Amino acid sequence: MDFLELLKNRRSVRSFENRKVPLQLLHAIIHEACFAPSAMNQQPWRFIIIQNTDLMKRISDENKKNMLLEIQNNPASLLKPYETIFKTNHFNIFYNASSLILICGKRHFSLHEDCSLAAAYLMFSATEKHLATCWIGFGVTIIDPELRAEIGLTDDLEIVAPIAIGYPTSIPECPKRSAPVILKELIS
Ligand SMILES: Cc1cc2nc3c(=O)[nH]c(=O)nc-3n(C[C@H](O)[C@H](O)[C@H](O)COP(=O)(O)O)c2cc1C
Repeated sequence: MDFLELLKNRRSVRSFENRKVPLQLLHAIIHEACFAPSAMNQQPWRFIIIQNTDLMKRISDENKKNMLLEIQNNPASLLKPYETIFKTNHFNIFYNASSLILICGKRHFSLHEDCSLAAAYLMFSATEKHLATCWIGFGVTIIDPELRAEIGLTDDLEIVAPIAIGYPTSIPECPKRSAPVILKELIS
């Protein structure tokens, strides 16, 4: 796959086959994600691999519950348009993918930037291996202490990028991109 093909083939996929990704393949993808740059080469990213669909469903439910609370407390919340789907029992925020990788780390001045780059590399690596991914921003709010303990999310760890990953049933078309907005060209 050449670079442009890779860019075009990486799509957010929301429909997955009911097929497990070999753990070795996930390790290879995570290894490649770590080629991402990071501020002062600190590499603050950490990875939690989850391949248990019951646990993923409970993490989905926990996030839905917390997002509904957020909407209740703040009706102007940007989450408000999603209220109905969060109330839908069978809606799984991870779209029933077979695997979930939580990219997280200890609070650090560039944690978000560094983990986001690792997430991008991870999604490209997965694409190159004919897997599909979706970054699930809805998946960052795990508060329940028992669930956090079960996942290994100690209090000092923050989730930056939950990535659903699996074999796609199909690859959607690229959603339309706006033309780049170049504010200025300062050429001497
Ligand atoms: C930070 C971030 C959070 C996202 N959160 C979600 C999410 O919670 N659920 C979802 O279905 N897609 C989510 N997406 C995927 C975007 O909707 C998707 O990238 C966008 O529609 C463009 O589609 P493409 O990835 O196929 O280019 C997220 C993407 C990013 C970068």
